[in-house]
Amino acid sequence: MDNKLLDGKAISAEMREELKVRVAALKAKDVVPGLGVLLVGDDPASRSYVTAKEKACEHVGIHSEEVRLPADATRDMILSVVNQYNSDPKINGILVQLPLPDGQMEQDVIAAIDPNKDVDGFTPVNIGRMQLGLPAYLPCTPHGILHMLKRSGHSPAKKHVVVVGRSNIVGRPLANLLTLKNALGNATVTLCHTGTPDIGVHTRQADIIVAAAGRPNTITGEMIPEGAVVIDVGVNRVEDASKPRGYRLVGDVDFDAALPKVAAITPVPGGVGPMTITMLLYNTVLAAEQVLERETAS
Ligand code: GUN
Repeated sequence: MDNKLLDGKAISAEMREELKVRVAALKAKDVVPGLGVLLVGDDPASRSYVTAKEKACEHVGIHSEEVRLPADATRDMILSVVNQYNSDPKINGILVQLPLPDGQMEQDVIAAIDPNKDVDGFTPVNIGRMQLGLPAYLPCTPHGILHMLKRSGHSPAKKHVVVVGRSNIVGRPLANLLTLKNALGNATVTLCHTGTPDIGVHTRQADIIVAAAGRPNTITGEMIPEGAVVIDVGVNRVEDASKPRGYRLVGDVDFDAALPKVAAITPVPGGVGPMTITMLLYNTVLAAEQVLERETAS
């Protein structure tokens, strides 16, 4: 049964070892990749993601700095930190943890990030480049899913992938990347969302299902065809008095019902989550390499 599990931790560990080699090559040229983190407010989930990202940086040799602002921080306070990171040569990548307490500021804050330091791949410049199939910093969760599928032998090429969820961070960029004609894409894609009358009609025709709706049990057993590959992006906290923290993490898929039917499935936690963090490291190392390239070329 266990061999059905797509082990995001193992694939991440493999990729992080590859990144360590690239970091060592940069350090031999006196370059230390640097990530600047901004956390606004004290949402416990955001805090724990940021801590995990900073620990992962340390593990591969990336320098990280963090600024925390209170939940009532003004737009100017937030933009001032972004601009500080934009002009700091020690910082190659900028991570503004989302969601911001005031969601209305989000697009302005993202647009203020220097596209060359946009290691989340969220700025309009990088999203546009991605859509066109040009070199770009790709958003970490979709990019991590593509690498996970490829490295686990479940290439999406020529397959029908049904993505459930249309967020700017996961569903829509993933659907877009999967359609590109390259080594990680070349799939036929259906994108379902809350406006889709019957999501099961679509998922039952899928070779690969990606659940990124942010709601437990969005994908039930009867929505999954025999032999499908299931990628569960959901990280939902559900109350569980038997756990020391009072909650447990579940995905968007009914895992127990899915397991007997699938060819492969990602666990939650330990599936997509570690890949997201690894791709942030990947983009930060790439950003540092590109600074060096630009300096050498000029
Ligand atoms: N919030 C949830 N996922 C992400 C992510 O990949 N990057 C940032 N910055 N915030 C997030």
